[in-house]
Amino acid sequence: MKKQPKIGVLYSRVRVEEKWIFAVLEQLGIDYDRLDDRKFSFDMNNPEPWLKYDAVLERSISYARGLYSTRILNAWGIPTVNTAKVAEVCGNKLATVTALSSANVPQPETRVAYTPASALTAIEEMGYPVVLKPMVGSWGRLLAKINDRDAAEAVLEHKNVLGSYEHSIFYIQEFINKPGRDIRVLVVNDEPIAAIYRHSPHWITNTARGGSGEICPLTPELTKISRDAAIAVGGGLLAVDVIEHPEHGYQINEINHTMEFHTAAPTTGVDIPSLIVDYLMKVARGEIEVL
Ligand SMILES: Nc1ncnc2c1ncn2[C@@H]1O[C@H](COP(=O)(O)OP(=O)(O)O)[C@@H](O)[C@H]1O
Ligand SMILES: [Mg+2]
Repeated sequence: MKKQPKIGVLYSRVRVEEKWIFAVLEQLGIDYDRLDDRKFSFDMNNPEPWLKYDAVLERSISYARGLYSTRILNAWGIPTVNTAKVAEVCGNKLATVTALSSANVPQPETRVAYTPASALTAIEEMGYPVVLKPMVGSWGRLLAKINDRDAAEAVLEHKNVLGSYEHSIFYIQEFINKPGRDIRVLVVNDEPIAAIYRHSPHWITNTARGGSGEICPLTPELTKISRDAAIAVGGGLLAVDVIEHPEHGYQINEINHTMEFHTAAPTTGVDIPSLIVDYLMKVARGEIEVL
């Protein structure tokens, strides 16, 4: 008989998502270890303690911890869900934009500038309002909607003087006047499986910021753009965020590689934790190759 795969789950804090995932692993009698990223260290000359894992599910809250851990594990030949390559692309908004643009996937007009003066010129060319975003970030933090030149000058100066080095790269996007919602599509192994609308009276609709969920039908058009976007960033287990542009239709806002689904799972009734474990086990058994 073939040996049962051994799984590692890398996490920072047991959120409701991790609770659900652990419950599925236990129900199925899967041999797994909980790997708390606050507690272990990697000995770069000794991969031995890690080689027992046939696959590692990465659920770190910290982007850096998840990225570095998967980079190390992948270098040692251990498959991870998702891979470091995918994390690199999804975790950095500029890397995402370039991947989508190479694959011709529709996305908002986006500009990158390196100085406050050139950023201001770009903003004036684009026209107000625009949105400034940190290159790396989540939960809608440090997003700034700029409605006029006064606000642009102020925020650019603040970023320039007070910001960390990440903020010295100005990432500017057209503000999309979307219908009070955006769409999150869960994609597993290039297959869109569920979608929700995220409603909010605020222009930032993240459920972490109080946005609420509602089931969204997976039309052929939505399925196509979500699949194309997932493939463009390297595939795996992804949450694709879609914005409805009033003139240009569906556009990809971003793609999340360690998704939260505390709203999507109850809203859609789709058993997302089981789908995650199912995908993870296929990777562990080598039925899906990720490296
Ligand atoms: N260009 C934009 N126009 C309109 N709304 C936007 C735009 N960019 C982001 N948003 C809103 O803000 C939310 C958070 O933006 P996002 O780029 O996903 O940042 P984060 O990585 O912090 O989640 C999106 O889900 C969307 O509701
Ligand atoms: Mg987002």
